[in-house]
Amino acid sequence: MQRAHLVLDPTFCVGTLDRRLFGTFVEHMGRCVYTGIYEPDHPTANAEGFRGDVLELTREVGATVVRYPGGNFVSAYRWEDGVGPLADRPRRIDPAWRSIEPNEVGLNEFAGWARAAGLEPMLAVNLGTRGITEACDLLEYSNIAGGTQLSDLRIAHGVKEPHEVRLWCLGNELDGPWQIGHRTAEEYGRLAAETASAMRRIDPDIELVACGSSNSRMPTFGSWEATVLDHTYDVVDHVSLHAYYEEQAGDLASFLASGADMDRFIAAVVATADHVGAKRRSRKQIGLCFDEWNVWHQHDHAGLANVALQESPRLQEDTFGVADAVVVGGLLITLLRHADRVKIACQAQLANVIGLIRTEPGGPAWRQSIFHPFALTARLARGMVLRAEPTGPRHETAQFGDVDTVDATATWDAETGALALFAVNRHPDEPVMLEVSLAAFPAATTAAVIGVHDDDLRAANSASEPARVVPRPSTAAIVNGRLHLDLPPASWQAISITTESH
Ligand code: AHR
Repeated sequence: MQRAHLVLDPTFCVGTLDRRLFGTFVEHMGRCVYTGIYEPDHPTANAEGFRGDVLELTREVGATVVRYPGGNFVSAYRWEDGVGPLADRPRRIDPAWRSIEPNEVGLNEFAGWARAAGLEPMLAVNLGTRGITEACDLLEYSNIAGGTQLSDLRIAHGVKEPHEVRLWCLGNELDGPWQIGHRTAEEYGRLAAETASAMRRIDPDIELVACGSSNSRMPTFGSWEATVLDHTYDVVDHVSLHAYYEEQAGDLASFLASGADMDRFIAAVVATADHVGAKRRSRKQIGLCFDEWNVWHQHDHAGLANVALQESPRLQEDTFGVADAVVVGGLLITLLRHADRVKIACQAQLANVIGLIRTEPGGPAWRQSIFHPFALTARLARGMVLRAEPTGPRHETAQFGDVDTVDATATWDAETGALALFAVNRHPDEPVMLEVSLAAFPAATTAAVIGVHDDDLRAANSASEPARVVPRPSTAAIVNGRLHLDLPPASWQAISITTESH
């Protein structure tokens, strides 16, 4: 069997883990909101019409932040449609997803749900069909305590306390020709800068995210970030990144190595942002907000052109298998490794649409395979991220070239003594023995291992078999300061190591 090796030491530290790395995303798309999180007629619905079963799973998955209301949806959205008496709310065409939006859920309902789920809301403003005025109006309605027209309107709508939303996205994917209100980098950069400055005058405590590229394959990738940050550097805090991965034409090896691509993407955006900062002789560092990431079997879905206009159609309801869960675990390893620069990340999306959770209207809700690595990483990763650099086998992939077979990262909470290691074997067929040197943790004796792997990489959960894919627990001994772990092919594992208690 091939062998890999890594050393864990609390002095080799990447940075403090920002818990906002475990964000998720709720978009008015398909059945993410309607019959996903919200279904007033569902047997588990609460007084506000939100599904209790989904609320429970949302708490269980341990997400911290939730981005809302889009996505592509936001680029034609009028936030005013979603507030005030239900009877007065319009039914509108959402051109982004060719759907009918009933506006039963809007800002106030969503903020209440997010609070109940223990999530910090991150709102996106419409910079596609709208601009500075509407973004400022929404901020005033949301964040000002009272005494102005729009804050008083919120109070009149029955919401006395301001939502105090701190995180705001300045539009969505405006580099994409598919986006309603698509713009050039110059146009968007100017609009984002002016919107940011105006919003900061209304609420100086907000954190702002400028749109980066929709993905790293965009023809404008790199120059888009540079131009947008040339305009916005002083008035925004973060730049966004989006990435979705899928297995192309049976190329499992590349798919399993998706984290290697995410690594390069992050490095390129850091370099571009720092280049802009250097030109300005700025001491400020722009954060990275990876506010859409996931696996997505896009090739399995037809386009929207022939979709009938309807409410909450079944859009992009991917069923995720074991290989998808291994990739998601690997992507989380990459995000953690860059904790010094990636401050916020949102898995997209929470329910039904490429979701962590699937639901049936009037029926059950269940955890998809990808739920498990997300929940385990969010639960076990604590404190500081440690630099973990496995040495060992490498293998060739068609899309991403030569990659490390084993990828890993670790976190260390000095207060509780909790050490957590996350490791993925990205080889489709070869097992690897991973040796972890723990000499810097002399009191470490046992390790609890929990992982996702299966002989059938396509195995998935479903309404009738919701526990086909569940994490598999085991233990591993630490002998003479060394831990040995079997990493089956195409597997992801989380290892909790008890060190001396403090
Ligand atoms: O998450 C689904 C869609 O993917 C979002 O609406 C869009 O921003 C991205 O292209």
